[in-house]
Amino acid sequence: MANILVTNISEMLTLAPANEKEGRRITEKDLGIKTNQAMYIVSGRIEWLGAQKEIPKILARNKKIKEVSMKGQTLLPGFVECHTHLVFAGHRAEEFELRNQGVSYQEISKRGGGILSTLQKTRAISERVLFAMSQKRVDDFVSQGVTTLEIKSGYSLDLKNEIKMLGVINKLRGPRVVATFLGAHAKPPEFASHGEYLKYLSDRVLPKIKKLNLASRVDIFVEKGFFEPEESRRYLAAAKDLGFDLVVHADQLTLSGGAKLCIELGARSGDHLLQIRGLEINMLARSNVTCVLLPAADLYMKCAYPPARKLIDAGARVALATDFNPGTCPTQDVALVGLLARLEMKMTLPEVIAAYTVGASYALNLAKEVGSLEVGKYADFLCTNSSWQETFYSVGGRLPTSVYRNGQLQKS
Ligand code: NIG
Ligand code: FE
Repeated sequence: MANILVTNISEMLTLAPANEKEGRRITEKDLGIKTNQAMYIVSGRIEWLGAQKEIPKILARNKKIKEVSMKGQTLLPGFVECHTHLVFAGHRAEEFELRNQGVSYQEISKRGGGILSTLQKTRAISERVLFAMSQKRVDDFVSQGVTTLEIKSGYSLDLKNEIKMLGVINKLRGPRVVATFLGAHAKPPEFASHGEYLKYLSDRVLPKIKKLNLASRVDIFVEKGFFEPEESRRYLAAAKDLGFDLVVHADQLTLSGGAKLCIELGARSGDHLLQIRGLEINMLARSNVTCVLLPAADLYMKCAYPPARKLIDAGARVALATDFNPGTCPTQDVALVGLLARLEMKMTLPEVIAAYTVGASYALNLAKEVGSLEVGKYADFLCTNSSWQETFYSVGGRLPTSVYRNGQLQKS
């Protein structure tokens, strides 16, 4: 990997102050805006960062260093997309129509639709075809400036096929991929009760996934009709004992105790959080749990949006993500997510930018590696000809002109 000197950066958002504040109470100052900058990259990490006119002579003269001119563009840290269900087969367009006609998500699920219909299609498809369709979706995220991407399993719900899904996730290329095991997404038809299924997962599946090193995180859908808090607590505790980081789909459709579980068990993130009230908001704000908000899913589900303003004002750390999946969020549009956060959740633009970089890096336990542009971190960034004020502005967004991960061009 050649050493690279990036020059002629007219404007750079380092997000270093936002990282210093661990993603809490973000204002414009925390974007760390610098003008006329340069950056030196060694082995994919930032070695030096400073004013263009202060580039150390030793670098400027070294012929072995490859210079890449940004020609006056704006640089931002690459986006960290921290919640997706990107690996799936088929679609659920009929279900979308039903929901629009007033049938609820839970009702569709009871009739055998929802997650279980994606399960049948995902179990049936070959690993090769599943990989090819998933890689296209990954490339779409990269083209939007995503350099770190979390992907969950959870559309197979048996040992063999969950391993197939995780195998696909770990083979995907482009961004830094973080794999999450979501075996506890729904009860598969082979089991009589949710409790029995969770026991099977903790006795048979979790140890295997750990041994094969297929995922570093374990997620669960805590919800009425899915997994109850008591059985979820036992399952998450078993996962924690095995060394997995914990994540919870929490309080999405009803106030079902997910956020409280996150705090009790020290989860990295609690995701969705639409239904939480004052008690949970204050507890989350005082905790180290990152609140992952997924407003595009709320749009599709015609739900109220989560109380972002209250969480942020109470001092919570917030991240934003798409929740891309065939059921509740069949779009992978990052710009739409940020736009909804601004329009519907009253988040300021600096809060949105920090949520999609620093906040999300905490959710994935990668805050020391990505999320801000600082010496020692990976050189993951996106370049744009627009000013930073034009991000998360138009529907569909304007794509970055180029995207770099580890200082290597991913997309131009
Ligand atoms: O994040 N809530 C649970 N899981 C997904 C939906 C998955 C699906 O319906 O396929 C979510 O919204
Ligand atoms: Fe989700």
